[in-house]
Amino acid sequence: MPINYEATSMRDGLCASLNATMVGSRVSVCGWVAKRREHGEHLAFLDLRDRSGLLQAVVEGSLDVRPEYVVRVTGTVSLRPEGTRNDRLATGDIELSQCDVEILAHAEAPPFQLDDRVEIDEQVRLRYRFLDFRRELMQENLRLRAKVNASLRRSMEAQGFCEVETPLLWAPTPEGAREFVVPSRLHPGDFYVLPQSPQIAKQLLMVGGFDRYFQIARCFRDEDLRADRQFEFTQLDLEASFVTQDDILGFVSLAVLDAAEAATGVRPDTIGSMTWAQALDLYGTDKPDLRFGMQLHDLSEVFASTQVKAFSASCVKAMRVPGGASYTRSRLDQLTEQAKELGAKGLAWFKLTPDALESPLARFLSEDEAAAIRGVDDAEVGDLILCVADDYVSACKVLGTLRVAIGSPPVGEGPHHYVWVTEFPMFEGIDDDGNLTAAHHPFTMPHLDDLDLVETNPLDVRAQAYDLVLNGWELGSGSVRIHRADVQSRIFSALGISEEEAQSRFGFLLSAFKYGAPPHAGFAFGIDRLVAIFAGEENIREVIAYPKTQSGADLMTGAPKDITDRQKRELSMKITPKG
Ligand code: AMO
Repeated sequence: MPINYEATSMRDGLCASLNATMVGSRVSVCGWVAKRREHGEHLAFLDLRDRSGLLQAVVEGSLDVRPEYVVRVTGTVSLRPEGTRNDRLATGDIELSQCDVEILAHAEAPPFQLDDRVEIDEQVRLRYRFLDFRRELMQENLRLRAKVNASLRRSMEAQGFCEVETPLLWAPTPEGAREFVVPSRLHPGDFYVLPQSPQIAKQLLMVGGFDRYFQIARCFRDEDLRADRQFEFTQLDLEASFVTQDDILGFVSLAVLDAAEAATGVRPDTIGSMTWAQALDLYGTDKPDLRFGMQLHDLSEVFASTQVKAFSASCVKAMRVPGGASYTRSRLDQLTEQAKELGAKGLAWFKLTPDALESPLARFLSEDEAAAIRGVDDAEVGDLILCVADDYVSACKVLGTLRVAIGSPPVGEGPHHYVWVTEFPMFEGIDDDGNLTAAHHPFTMPHLDDLDLVETNPLDVRAQAYDLVLNGWELGSGSVRIHRADVQSRIFSALGISEEEAQSRFGFLLSAFKYGAPPHAGFAFGIDRLVAIFAGEENIREVIAYPKTQSGADLMTGAPKDITDRQKRELSMKITPKG
């Protein structure tokens, strides 16, 4: 007989573990009363709920139990009478009869209906998260998360990675977001910083010879919250020595495919890749959503010597919107407004009707230009062509944003399309002080072929940095790290980080590198994002047990909130009003 791990001193198993083969057995189960239905004066049907699901118990005699009371029911497993079976329930063909009910705890009426089919205000759900957990959806989401974590651990361990926990009370980390700081009682006026990621800690583990490290790591960033961002979130973080970019892509792909299989039951195909330049050119973004087409097309050549003022720019990009000829004027005005808000001078649109190209600009086009527009992406009658003329990067980005606004299904919907995006630029742009800004972090290794461009043509330098993208969300990023002091000092100097500043911010890492740093590389991806997509959710809050609201509040505990005067004294803190 298999061991029943769910049996305890109080119960013989879970509600949904009972079935028709056990008819006649006398068993005890424990849980909450989900529903009570009366049948006359002396017969009641209880739906009993535990984490496995529902079970019907038939109770005779008078009994004062109400919904959400915690009970232990001992009864005889019986087949439900013909005609009363419930196909929608796993235990729908049986019930517990001749029940003895022991009340383990009384309960007040919950402030909302604990039913997945009822839409409940999220603020109320977060305030009473412990009750929200009793809903099947939250049970499923958090259990899915646990399954993904377990699979990731298995996969990393199978690939020879060692799990190491790194500190939460630490020093500043280099990811570039605002940090959460923690005052120190023993060092008045000094602060710990909660890690934005274990970036430096894991690189030091490589210097220490760990060779392959991973961690399911809690990270903290004080940034504006969105559907895919929380103050605290969890990464699968990893680092390995004596590897190249391809090795890291291999490790991560395997872990993600294993997790996808564990979560969904289907193993996706291997993960394809494209360069950052290709992603920008075809999709106008570094996180392309490959669930649908609508690629961008370049019409710059055709319009090189155009007479149409709206098209006189160094680049003209076009995109076909299937079926878009039916868009109303106000929808087109709205898209034009959106393009302008994104920095474009305007948005040109052309409807392909049976007779002609329909557009305020149509009569100004040359024959070649009109033919080029008609030919975008094998467009057909009924389609719409949108064009943006600007410098190359702006034209791509504006059209890329419109592409997502028009075509992207909700992130958790439909197939899962993973893609690696490689060869990110090393530098993002130039800040107000005239210094280059790093696209990733300052320890990212440039493409060795581009090393000589660091001083002469820095914006053309490609980094050995890569992202993993799923359905238009950035799942994770990583890079090959600089382990050579000469390359590191060239990058710091390009970023305007002086020797002193580098020493004060990252001195302990730089000095560790003097003792023999192996070539190393790594990656981290957001587990919250991955699980949200697996669960078909739009917001990572739905897969986090105790998330913060959009304004950063924890509605259940009331955090953040004041501390006592005594605590402030101990921490040598004085709060001055904001102003
Ligand atoms: P990066 O900063 O790109 O890289 O973060 C990696 C991944 O972490 C997730 N993530 C978040 N998830 C939820 N809320 C947030 N506020 C949030 N911020 C980031 C994303 C993101 O892709 N140390 C490097 C990795 C490396 O180079 O090894 C790092 O942290 O899914």
